[in-house]
Amino acid sequence: MTVEISNNYNELSIQVSEKIAGYINAMPGTLVCLAAGNTPLGAFRELVAMQERGEVDLSSVWYAGLDEWIGLGPGDVGSCAQVMNEALYKHISKERIRIFDGLDSDEEKQCRDMENWIKSHGGLGFTLLGIGMNGHIGFNEPGASDAEGCFLVDLDDITKSVSKKYFGKELPIAKGITIGWRTLFNAGNVVLMASGKEKAPIVKAALQGPVTPDIPATQFKKHNKLTVMLDKDAASLI
Ligand code: F6R
Repeated sequence: MTVEISNNYNELSIQVSEKIAGYINAMPGTLVCLAAGNTPLGAFRELVAMQERGEVDLSSVWYAGLDEWIGLGPGDVGSCAQVMNEALYKHISKERIRIFDGLDSDEEKQCRDMENWIKSHGGLGFTLLGIGMNGHIGFNEPGASDAEGCFLVDLDDITKSVSKKYFGKELPIAKGITIGWRTLFNAGNVVLMASGKEKAPIVKAALQGPVTPDIPATQFKKHNKLTVMLDKDAASLI
């Protein structure tokens, strides 16, 4: 595990975007999975700017969406699809991207289709992860299953209460759909990013505490190509 600490969020965003672009330029044709959420938005802005400057072709790799809130579709503000479309995917050829649809009630088929998409592209080459306030990764909540593949999950209370920041109000959302942590772990390269003082305690627990399913992020410490990228605030307790 390598830990890289940037002075502030802007620097972190630039460093992460360079890491992603470096991977894309070196490994065209492979499959990438990028977390939604607020933390990577600065890095996505930088990536789009890099593409406009001709420094990276974002359509030279394939994409697998990490997760989605059940009950929300691409037209709903705050859904993973809406956030990712707006921040990044609208700058990428559509056929390169597969995402979950939180409005499609056949979740089993969605899971199978995503698993097939991942398999047919040779597995994940690179994944960018954020960390939840409860240590979740994607929607691999505390106590998450160890199995490979994709799942429908009951959301943790902390995830439900934090979700207000995306929707501007409380929505009656109880479930999510996600790529399982074991499949994410099998990615060739994993970048875990966090920003801000409020993430400092969970970052400390994830990096310095014991490996436990209660904090899914701790499982990634065993990955031999894990880069943890933090700003100074998120790193302030380690
Ligand atoms: C989003 C996702 C989540 C977030 C995590 C951190 O696709 O999978 O695990 O990465 O909840 O969210 P932010 O960055 O908003 O603090």
